Amino acid sequence: NDDQFKRVVAHAKEYGYIFGSSEIYDGLSAVYDYAQNGVELKNNIRQYWWTSMVKMHQNIVGIDAAILMHPTTWKASGHVDAFNDPLIDNKDSKKRYRADVLIEDYAEKLEQKVQKEIAKAKKRFGESFDETQFVSTHPRVVGYRQKKEEVLARMARSLDNNDLADVKALIEELGIADPETGSKNWTEVRQFNLMFGTKLGASAEHATDLYLRPETAQGIFVNFLNVQKTGRMKVPFGIAQTGKAFRNEIVARQFIFRMREFEQMEMQFFVRPGEEMKWYEYWKETRLKWHLSLGLGADNYRFHDHEKLAHYANAATDIEFKFPFGFKELEGIHSRTDFDLKAHEEYSGKKLQFFDPELNESYVPYVVETSIGLDRMFLAVFSNSLKEETLEDGSTRTVLALPAILAPVKAAVLPLIKRDGLPEIAHQIIDMLKWDYQVQYDEKDAVGRRYRRQDAVGTPFCITVDHQTKDDQTVTLRHRDSMEQERVEISDLPAKMASLLEV
Ligand code: GAP
Repeated sequence: NDDQFKRVVAHAKEYGYIFGSSEIYDGLSAVYDYAQNGVELKNNIRQYWWTSMVKMHQNIVGIDAAILMHPTTWKASGHVDAFNDPLIDNKDSKKRYRADVLIEDYAEKLEQKVQKEIAKAKKRFGESFDETQFVSTHPRVVGYRQKKEEVLARMARSLDNNDLADVKALIEELGIADPETGSKNWTEVRQFNLMFGTKLGASAEHATDLYLRPETAQGIFVNFLNVQKTGRMKVPFGIAQTGKAFRNEIVARQFIFRMREFEQMEMQFFVRPGEEMKWYEYWKETRLKWHLSLGLGADNYRFHDHEKLAHYANAATDIEFKFPFGFKELEGIHSRTDFDLKAHEEYSGKKLQFFDPELNESYVPYVVETSIGLDRMFLAVFSNSLKEETLEDGSTRTVLALPAILAPVKAAVLPLIKRDGLPEIAHQIIDMLKWDYQVQYDEKDAVGRRYRRQDAVGTPFCITVDHQTKDDQTVTLRHRDSMEQERVEISDLPAKMASLLEV
């Protein structure tokens, strides 16, 4: 919901996770900077992905291709001709919108009406309420749902056929108004390419037009043969990569969900033609397991299989996550056939084939791709972890219950007071743990306040040094989620931390 989302954005700023880009100049919309805690969380998510994909799979290797690529890459991939969003302007307000988003928002409002009816009926009928029966029989609800499906289907059809006049007609028939001014005076719909252009070369006449890559995948496709040969890889094998991608997104909202500069974590898995569905199923299951391993709650994920497929795909699904603004795409798994490698063969004139010794033949492999936005994953983890808890004594606390393995700081070491040699012991503990863990020293304010601050930052453990420590070499280990405290010997801390941070 809206309030939860606002809390997420405010908390990310207040606790040093995310700042707007160049904020002192009032920022740049849909561009963000990761702050001192944000960069650690982001690195940890990237590492968690890399470990599971590259380290845990003997037949997957990584690369780090350049952001700038030969411009023909984007002709071959189809991005120059087809990586477009349909835009529409309001003639009165001069505001620009994505036509498909205006229509989707209309559909979303119909769904909200359905949810309102359900909530009302639930109140009225209490225990005996049967939601499935209600939504399939109640005339108003059935009507809203039917209308919603019709609207979305017609939009998808028109966009597929590039019938932009019909997209405009649909907006007019539905009476969709400028969300900011209410005006219904629309221009024609036109296609807008999402790639950012830039120039290479010293003088304007001799400059070459380049693009900032809109996906990392093409850096993998153009290196397919280089990696296969030098790594002596045998199909099936994969190439993984994380890195920046750029899209000139028109709708800039929902914080880091949709950004103009963002990071992808992609893996292209090259398989024998005909075996792609087996591997598509394998990667669907494997990627979902990866998400579930973080413990954000199985109910927060669902697959959304694409019915309408892009021209290069023969199967595609999204792993959707329940963000504060509803279920939205977090990761895509696509069976891309041999479309990309074939296109690069055609445009480059170079063969991109694999000689399969078992079949004794050469072929262009098929590709199953897994593609997840690192920033979107960050938002999923962060928003899911932020909680307001009411404690037994009636007071409340804010806790960022991040999975411990991803938390920016694993432990804060706190001397109970700033004298009597306690800070020195705390620093010794930091020196012992810092080789393996991100640890932080904190001596400001009463210890209770320090605990609350660490709860809000998401630090899973606090280690408190008090006077007893001087007598028996033990400290208090406090657990963020349960708030339980236990006494632990200093020499046992490394082993204890290791066992607590095991996944
Ligand atoms: N190579 C396939 C590809 O790029 P995509 O569905 O366009 O597919 C994959 O993008 C993932 O990248 C998405 O599921 C999403 O997590 C992330 N992503 C895409 N556009 C984004 C944006 N503007 N801001 C943040 N993340 C984005």
